[in-house]
Amino acid sequence: MGKRVRISGAECVLPSGRWRGDVLVEGGRILDLDPPASARADQTIDATGLHLLPGVVDDQVHFREPGLTHKEDLATASWACAKGGVTTFFEMPNTKPTTTTVERLHEKLALAATKSVVNYGFYIGATPTNIEETRAATRTPGIKIFIGSSTGDLLVDEQAALERIFAETTLPICAHCEDEATVRANSARLNGGTRIQDHSLIRDHLAAEIATRRALDLAYRHNHRFHVLHVSTAIETEIVADHRGLITAEACPHHLFFTVDDYERLGSLIQMNPSIKTKEDVAVLWKALGDGRIQVIATDHAPHTLEEKRQPYPKSPSGLPAVENSLALMLDAANRGLCTLEQVVAWMCDAPARVWDLVGKGRIERGYDADLVLVDLNKSQTIRNEDQLTKCGWSPWAGTTLTGWPVMTLVHGEVVFADGKVDTSHRGKEAIFDHSRGGYWG
Ligand code: DOR
Repeated sequence: MGKRVRISGAECVLPSGRWRGDVLVEGGRILDLDPPASARADQTIDATGLHLLPGVVDDQVHFREPGLTHKEDLATASWACAKGGVTTFFEMPNTKPTTTTVERLHEKLALAATKSVVNYGFYIGATPTNIEETRAATRTPGIKIFIGSSTGDLLVDEQAALERIFAETTLPICAHCEDEATVRANSARLNGGTRIQDHSLIRDHLAAEIATRRALDLAYRHNHRFHVLHVSTAIETEIVADHRGLITAEACPHHLFFTVDDYERLGSLIQMNPSIKTKEDVAVLWKALGDGRIQVIATDHAPHTLEEKRQPYPKSPSGLPAVENSLALMLDAANRGLCTLEQVVAWMCDAPARVWDLVGKGRIERGYDADLVLVDLNKSQTIRNEDQLTKCGWSPWAGTTLTGWPVMTLVHGEVVFADGKVDTSHRGKEAIFDHSRGGYWG
């Protein structure tokens, strides 16, 4: 039982369409859709004029705890999530120490239980030698492989090690696909790079293409579910189209909204791995989202301090924060006619829940968890560094005015963000996975 909340008068949005009606929430779950007016409720939230979406599931974030907590920690990152309409996150293993054993995975889960206001899950990272750990892990969305190094020292590049991981594990796998040899050769040719623009020449189209082809070849031959993180090039959208019921792919806001032309204005603030690409690539990424070659949008939220970012290239680290603004960026895009609201819900809520076999989330449906976000499509607001809740305190979109913002976020039926404030006393729950479901194509 517990408190009953009626969310009244919103237009509810699902991938399949919209309807205007009330939603009744009890005990952290959605109890009823369109309940009779006589249904008892302890609290009514007047959502007239607003849209109700399932909470965003962000399947790729770097929250820096343990070990790198001068950049971010699980509390600050989760506040940023709540403000941004993200009700569940899956975090990457390149913390210090890395999440490469079951023990460390469980330590992170225990830490998040004490600190995170939203729901959480953590990947287990692959190394060339930790196959037993990745086989023993159960409380996780899946295995993360860095096929190509990025921030931190997690890298699995040798073919034999990759073959073993794909052959001998059963959890879904995702990977950072940039070919290490190509990146190193490009870097040597450019003497390591001196201008920020060199970053996109070092981590070039070919590096992404080679690594993505290599990963898909492994997935096909071992009949293993595989999710391509942060697709950044047009050519990769053609490769992932051949999904064979195994492959899913995702795009990130920075690859959808920035191009190499923005380096002049933003410098290393938009230095990311994979690198920012051309406007032609951006156009194809949008097309691939539209026709279903790419199913998911996730942020790759990767905070570094401004001081770290302002070092001259190539000393400047790769990564930018985004969980706080990703939904607003997409609502603004929908307002501008780049996509529909239904597509935003499909890409940010429904698809990631399905890809990772997440139980009870990603939809507004009876029995589903009441992880919900109310958005005001008419609200215009300018992103400002001083308003950011992420510990790093900046956004590459600072100065940008977006129309369409989350105004209230509920996690398990509790209001965690409203009136511009996060209830930092709330605690989210561990995400539950049922990997027998077979993922997005299952
Ligand atoms: O630019 C990036 N930064 N890409 C990644 O894959 C890792 C991330 C980080 O952790 O800083």
